[in-house]
Amino acid sequence: MNLLIRGGRVVDPSQSLDAKRDVRIENGLIAQISEHLEPDDWGFGETGVVDAENAIVAPGFIDMHVHLREPGQTHKETIATGTAAAVAGGFTSVACMPNTKPPLDTPALITEVLRLAGEAALARVYPIAAITKDRAGRELAPFWRLHDAGAVAFSDDGSTVADARVLRQAALYARDVPGVFIEHCEDPALKGDAVMNEGDASLRFGASAAPGLAEDVIVARDLLICGETGKPFHLAHLSTATSVDLVRFARSRGTACTCEVTPHHLLLDDHRFTDFRADAKVNPPLRGQRDCEALRAAVRDGTIDVLATDHAPHTREEKAGLLADAPPGFSGLEVALGAYALALPDLPLERFVALLSANPARILGIPGGTLRVGSLGDVTVFAEERWTADVSRFQSLGKNTPFDGWTFPRRPIATVVAGNLLMYRGRLAARTPV
Ligand code: DOR
Repeated sequence: MNLLIRGGRVVDPSQSLDAKRDVRIENGLIAQISEHLEPDDWGFGETGVVDAENAIVAPGFIDMHVHLREPGQTHKETIATGTAAAVAGGFTSVACMPNTKPPLDTPALITEVLRLAGEAALARVYPIAAITKDRAGRELAPFWRLHDAGAVAFSDDGSTVADARVLRQAALYARDVPGVFIEHCEDPALKGDAVMNEGDASLRFGASAAPGLAEDVIVARDLLICGETGKPFHLAHLSTATSVDLVRFARSRGTACTCEVTPHHLLLDDHRFTDFRADAKVNPPLRGQRDCEALRAAVRDGTIDVLATDHAPHTREEKAGLLADAPPGFSGLEVALGAYALALPDLPLERFVALLSANPARILGIPGGTLRVGSLGDVTVFAEERWTADVSRFQSLGKNTPFDGWTFPRRPIATVVAGNLLMYRGRLAARTPV
């Protein structure tokens, strides 16, 4: 199947391209970008045509922080439903976190994730393996074997590697293994049993709370370990003003670190807690307004490298449990593009696209993130159209989002993976092998 994406504004920061162009995909790869292409120019095979008039055509979006829950928690999400949510949300690739049951700490489990992703045949899936065995923070995972099996990065996400000695040793052992360390930064001692951020909201509310310091001390520690060991670190879901300041400071000293921010930390503050429900419970917690503003400023000034969702699906029953017991997290893939645009209305499109394509591709060392001729035929088409999120239409099994009913200014129109049109205007195509 060949595909022609016609009439769109092509925004591809990897080749400083921002112009009205047609894009032709052949045999799964970008074949030609030109001012005007006709399906008949082709000469052979069947050609599908995607109308991208009044829309923006970008390299396929990559979400480098999702929880697909398989193996072991298929009541929350499966690789099939999670990747359906990805293509519905405009993502052509996702990198999935290893806090599954069991955690992704053996080559066989990485192989199994890749097999299930191949069967689902929707978004591409890049597994992230654990840093420590069983994510227990003690023994190191077999980095080379995990890499050889297909792991693109390492993380104990969901928890912090609490023991600095273990993390430093891991970074030294894994220094030559391809794959960034993705750090979840929350000090378990300072975090305690907190369900929310410590601030005026928690004082009024009376729930157990943790200070932003719980994140800041680990960010500082990890940046120092990154600088000392030379292992590249990527800091996940930053949520405080001090964290981004620390990243700026570390970079000024030449530390090779990158970082990401989520839609909810950009848009929502801890005043979302109005009752004892777990709808607003997430790790790290929603912070104060000043932190949200600092994160948005950090995206604008280039401190933040990546927009990532931390898609964390849970069942309705789980989220309806007691605030103290209910799991943290939001189902993010299907609202993310709209939420980013709402949070960052003035962000130039070129930067918006880079934060979702070229940057995560570079950090993970995976193909994609570009529309250069010969690269993957993965494309995201989106438009400046207002729409209202409706959780009942989610492909994800996780219906837990604080954004249900919100109206957003931007939406995905089409998701193309290897030249296959997998989503067009909200409808998913029948599955075709990637
Ligand atoms: O809120 C969160 N949920 N934060 C994490 O780091 C983990 C995630 C999950 O796996 O549910």
